[in-house]
Amino acid sequence: MEIVLSQIKKRFGDLQAVKTLSFTVKQGEFVSLLGPSGCGKTTLLRMLAGIETPDSGEIAFGDTVIFSSEKNIMMPPQKRNIGMVFQDFALWPHMTVFENVAYSLRARKQKKQLQEKVMEALRSVQLEPLWERYPHQLSGGQQQRVAFARAIVNKPGIILLDEPLSALDATLRDDMRLLLQRLVKRMGMTAIYVTHDQSEAMAMSDRIVVMTKGEVIQMDTPEMIYHYPVNETVARFVGKGSIVTGTPCTQLGQSGFQLGQEAFLAARQAALFPQGKEVQTVIRPETVDVSLQQSDHRVTGKVETISYLGERYEGTLKIANTDVVLHFYSTKRIETGTTVYVRIHSDQIHVLQSKGGAYETA
Ligand SMILES: Nc1ncnc2c1ncn2[C@@H]1O[C@H](COP(=O)(O)OP(=O)(O)O)[C@@H](O)[C@H]1O
Ligand SMILES: [Mg+2]
Repeated sequence: MEIVLSQIKKRFGDLQAVKTLSFTVKQGEFVSLLGPSGCGKTTLLRMLAGIETPDSGEIAFGDTVIFSSEKNIMMPPQKRNIGMVFQDFALWPHMTVFENVAYSLRARKQKKQLQEKVMEALRSVQLEPLWERYPHQLSGGQQQRVAFARAIVNKPGIILLDEPLSALDATLRDDMRLLLQRLVKRMGMTAIYVTHDQSEAMAMSDRIVVMTKGEVIQMDTPEMIYHYPVNETVARFVGKGSIVTGTPCTQLGQSGFQLGQEAFLAARQAALFPQGKEVQTVIRPETVDVSLQQSDHRVTGKVETISYLGERYEGTLKIANTDVVLHFYSTKRIETGTTVYVRIHSDQIHVLQSKGGAYETA
């Protein structure tokens, strides 16, 4: 089901928790709300669920307006055809797995094929054999799967998930991610997934809504958000890398960015921007080419940190005579303190929009 939010606002006392927010989630789309703690993600989800009432604006699910301040519409939660999953699972401790999942069907007096529906939901999260257990007899991952089963037993058109994996350990989280992603797509549900974990949002979503302080800063595919962040906040929040101030110019026939007085960082892309005018660039680690050999068009740097990630090394280096610190990847260990020669080897530098006006990026 499509979700359309128009001009939604919510205030708690003096705090404007959500500021005039509008966006559309397409039918069957998996969208993440990504932002730091306190930016209004849960509040937004609760307004979609009908647990919280917006101060103004309109929300529609498909052709149905479920909230409108103007038309005085506020559809109660149980009529909204949504499933919800929370961080803390929120299972009833005194009920079996079966009864936890059956609860919402019983509450709606949907007794027909109750057993089949519950068992089907449990099967889809691979928990069928454990239907008689109580929550305390289950692991954290199993409890969270019960919570998923409970959310989907009514076959809702929309599923809302509020940091559902954050209470699980890292390995389990990866498995659950895949299970959840497959399940949501297979059932054709429209999903809104709240997280403060950028890698989770990048891995799972069709599109990401980046929020801070009750506002949407950017809504786009993970790839676009990574390569073309609209501003510094998004660039810092999503992906590794450095924000570097430089001046596009040419040295010895080579385009690049002048950093401070003495360092010139060769990068072909610099030719695309007004020469001599300072810009802010986002330099991701995969674009930083580090060599132990001196050669043309390379600037000197010193390795500050290095860590081993299994498939490669990840480090930071400081460009000589500047405060610029760049992140880089390497296939071999380069000890801290080593002098290296640096070049930006791809055309992947992203230049952030300047205050004076927008720049076109390649
Ligand atoms: N019922 C409430 N009463 C007062 N303030 C609230 C209430 N719910 C949330 N807030 C405040 O609104 C802001 C956004 O909260 P929330 O939506 O929970 O953020 P997030 O989920 O992004 O961490 C926070 O500053 C929070 O303290
Ligand atoms: Mg929250």
